[in-house]
Amino acid sequence: MVGKLFHERPPRLGATLLDPGCGNGEFIEGVLRACQRNGWPEPQILGVEQSPSRAQTAQRSFTDSRTVEIREADFLQSAHERFDYIVGNPPYVAITGLDPDERERYREAYATAIGRFDLYALFFEQALRLLQPDGRLVFISPEKHPHQVSQWREQFLAGAATVFADGPALDPPVDVQALHAKIGELTLENDFLERALAKAGGSSAKR
Ligand SMILES: C[S@@+](CC[C@H](N)C(=O)[O-])C[C@H]1O[C@@H](n2cnc3c(N)ncnc32)[C@H](O)[C@@H]1O
Repeated sequence: MVGKLFHERPPRLGATLLDPGCGNGEFIEGVLRACQRNGWPEPQILGVEQSPSRAQTAQRSFTDSRTVEIREADFLQSAHERFDYIVGNPPYVAITGLDPDERERYREAYATAIGRFDLYALFFEQALRLLQPDGRLVFISPEKHPHQVSQWREQFLAGAATVFADGPALDPPVDVQALHAKIGELTLENDFLERALAKAGGSSAKR
């Protein structure tokens, strides 16, 4: 994951990185290790975690770090700054696991909260909003995801100007052109993973 994130594009001084749903901070540790191993400058890292106990564990792990901040917050309901890198393992929670109020709130705020949606789709949407125009996003994705990215891409291209118009108020606003570029890149990356998996004999997970 971290290798893919920085492949041919290691972090530069002042780079920023987000891990939404960072859990206990395992990916963040991986990022810091990669930077130390390769002599790269550590990015300014923000981990966002909703679970108080996990957020506290992560905060304890990085108390001595000047580059890592762990925020206990709902990633889907709080505005954030923009990031050069976004890496993570979004939660896979089907709509049936959400309470009705939560479901309705997400439906109003997210273009991808349609049909029998899953929280990971909303994580993708929010993360794409927060990615710098030339930024890079690497998420662990479920098996069905490559097809879903293509669907979202179609949806965004068909109504890009309005798709995010009703989304949560974010500053800065969405850069639609950059969003298209990112969705294209994600699709390509998923196609690549699909081919690699097929070659390897078709495993069931994409880790
Ligand atoms: C699949 S786990 C990944 C944890 C960690 N990144 C890892 O790979 O071990 C998803 C994490 O997202 C957190 N999460 C779920 N919904 C969230 C939300 N709305 N905002 C922030 N974090 C959330 C969960 O508490 C959980 O720690």
